[in-house]
Amino acid sequence: MTTPPLSDRSFGRIAGLMHAAVGLSFTPNKKPLMSSRLASRVQHLGLQGFDDYAALLESPDDGGEFQMAVDLLTTNETYFFREPAHFALLQAELQRTRPQQLKVWSAASSFGDEAYSTAMLLADLQAQGTIGADWSVLGTDISERVLQSATQAIYPAERLREVDARRLKRYCLRGEGESEGLVQVCESLRRQVRFGQLNLCAPVDEVGPFDVIFLRNVLIYFDPPTKSAVVDRVLSRLRPGGLFFLGTAEGRVPCNTPLTVLAPGAYRKGRAQ
Ligand SMILES: C[S@@+](CC[C@H](N)C(=O)[O-])C[C@H]1O[C@@H](n2cnc3c(N)ncnc32)[C@H](O)[C@@H]1O
Repeated sequence: MTTPPLSDRSFGRIAGLMHAAVGLSFTPNKKPLMSSRLASRVQHLGLQGFDDYAALLESPDDGGEFQMAVDLLTTNETYFFREPAHFALLQAELQRTRPQQLKVWSAASSFGDEAYSTAMLLADLQAQGTIGADWSVLGTDISERVLQSATQAIYPAERLREVDARRLKRYCLRGEGESEGLVQVCESLRRQVRFGQLNLCAPVDEVGPFDVIFLRNVLIYFDPPTKSAVVDRVLSRLRPGGLFFLGTAEGRVPCNTPLTVLAPGAYRKGRAQ
């Protein structure tokens, strides 16, 4: 049995639920995307159509389906050392300040590529004596599916295309046999990185404060008021003078927290002296 097309009404109901709960903004041109990502669930559950699916999502007894819909409707594209200029800037900053302690937050971590890239950089800097041993990286996301995968830290080798040969050798294990083509981040690095579920559209006071925050390539899924609210909320967990990174494609997002621009997508909390 084929699923009847997603009506404007069902689209509006599901879009409204997603916006209210996790801030995702689905404009009408996203209707085909929503339909293609959720159709298999409507079929799998044996429902008549998307209206029944919307009703299930609205019900308090949804059997975990709301989280399933969030997992399917989020876009999780990521890779290691994405936007390398941000990692170079972080390295230069740490070489200048030589902190003994450091807490980093990857605030929409997806599969963990950004968190483990940061951990590789910090482990190198620790080995060189540039930073102390007391550093950690927290990765958070709204999607349970990506968080489970991030904890396992197993990736198709292609996702580590920006990782140099020395780091690959030092921090990664290459799969053999059935695992050929896969790479796992080594245990010593995994120990420095934790993952947890956190909704950027709800209070975030349980985490931090941090010295460095990455909030990259997630604001594009929010509408302008949500973007600003998320940026201020996340920045409340950054220490004064801390570094803040946004995806360079996201532009400057208006917010109430004073920031100094360092480079495209790179900011320091507070006004320049
Ligand atoms: C495109 S990925 C960005 C990954 C990484 N930061 C990067 O730049 O490569 C966007 C992530 O934001 C997450 N996300 C979307 N809405 C969220 C919310 N309300 N709270 C937390 N994470 C959210 C998605 O699940 C997705 O994994």
